[in-house]
Amino acid sequence: MKKLVLANLKMYFNITKDIQDYLNNLNDEKENFIAFPPIIYLEKFLNNGFTCGIQDISVHKEGAHTGEVSALSATDLGAKYVLLGHSEIRQKGESDELINKKIKTALNHNLKAILCVGENLEAYNQSQTKEIIKNQISKALKNIDEEIMISYEPVWAIGTGKTPTNNEIEDVVSYIKSLFNYKIKVLYGGSVSEKNIETLNQINNLDGFLIGYAATIPSSLRKIIEVAKK
Ligand code: PGA
Repeated sequence: MKKLVLANLKMYFNITKDIQDYLNNLNDEKENFIAFPPIIYLEKFLNNGFTCGIQDISVHKEGAHTGEVSALSATDLGAKYVLLGHSEIRQKGESDELINKKIKTALNHNLKAILCVGENLEAYNQSQTKEIIKNQISKALKNIDEEIMISYEPVWAIGTGKTPTNNEIEDVVSYIKSLFNYKIKVLYGGSVSEKNIETLNQINNLDGFLIGYAATIPSSLRKIIEVAKK
């Protein structure tokens, strides 16, 4: 089954030349993944024909909110998706309640929301993964009936080179799916790379991958896309 490939490029590119090299290098793959570029390069990705999302949105519609990006401006430019609840933003104090409001803002502006959920290492060691995830999902999706996607991202797996076992991921994915009355798409994120993609791709109930660092390296992303197509 073909799986979705999402590239969360975080703040990895800081000069225009690097972005241009990246776009040139992956031009023939642009239909095969969804890019979440640093916001300042969103327009450049879109102008080059890449399908894009943004890494976060403001909860506010408009107004005096220095440094924030509105959902309206993102859709106006052509973004189709938004990542919400990423652990790197949660760690700065973003609450489940705020994530809930941001998801509503996103859906009101026709942005498809991808809600990131996952446990930290302590919770993982205490086998509290499902409890944490259920709590994050029920709060973030309170009073929301529209379909969204979920990305399961254990905090301890992000940027560390560590991943849960295939059985562990499969178990969490099937648990997440059991919480919904529609066929929700569930992705996995956290140290997905060209080295472990063959293994991770064997997880049958998974609908795709959210890739951070490895997605910044064109040859790695290419390999991941090739395997995820199978
Ligand atoms: P990583 O990041 O692939 O660099 O671990 C994944 C993510 O944060 O979405």
